[in-house]
Amino acid sequence: MASQDLINRLESTIENIPDFPIPGIQFKDISPIFLNPKLYEEVIEDLVAFSKGKIDAVCGIESRGYLFGIAIAVALEVPFILIRKAGKLPPPIISEKYDLEYGSAIIETREGQIKPGQRVLIHDDLLATGGTTEAAAKLVEKQGATVSQFSFLIGLKGLNGDEKLKKFNAEIYHILEY
Ligand code: PRP
Ligand code: MG
Repeated sequence: MASQDLINRLESTIENIPDFPIPGIQFKDISPIFLNPKLYEEVIEDLVAFSKGKIDAVCGIESRGYLFGIAIAVALEVPFILIRKAGKLPPPIISEKYDLEYGSAIIETREGQIKPGQRVLIHDDLLATGGTTEAAAKLVEKQGATVSQFSFLIGLKGLNGDEKLKKFNAEIYHILEY
């Protein structure tokens, strides 16, 4: 989907920070993309082209999933639904617990904002282990909607995130793969 030229420019824009947040992890800092509005616009155009005509709503995952997710929803003129970390949203909410490397986490969404039967895009900036996205997909299904698509700016190979998402039978797209 994305041109090789766009991929190259994104790769040279995203900063690789060694040993952050913990030793041995290389952090991909996407913040320089937002210093370049034209580049940001091209990313949105690419993500919008993937989802155009295929979805009725976008769910974005706090917090970096909001950076692109809401722009995708506005461009496609469909609702945007916040999936947030625990304790941020007022009731009524529905929650999903998922495992982290050490311990667990909970994500939540306002009950009733995702409508039964909707075809939903789940968007986040990064697919790593897939734990966060899998939990978001379960929240969508709990509301009687269908996960039709997943999109990410970056997919990390070797952590088997794609494997975790297979059971939802949805399209998966990442602009960049590392
Ligand atoms: C990062 C990233 C994804 C998630 C991917 O978010 O933005 O949301 O981790 O990891 P996974 O595939 O292993 O679940 P993080 O929790 O660091 O928070 P942030 O988006 O608020 O910065
Ligand atoms: Mg995140």
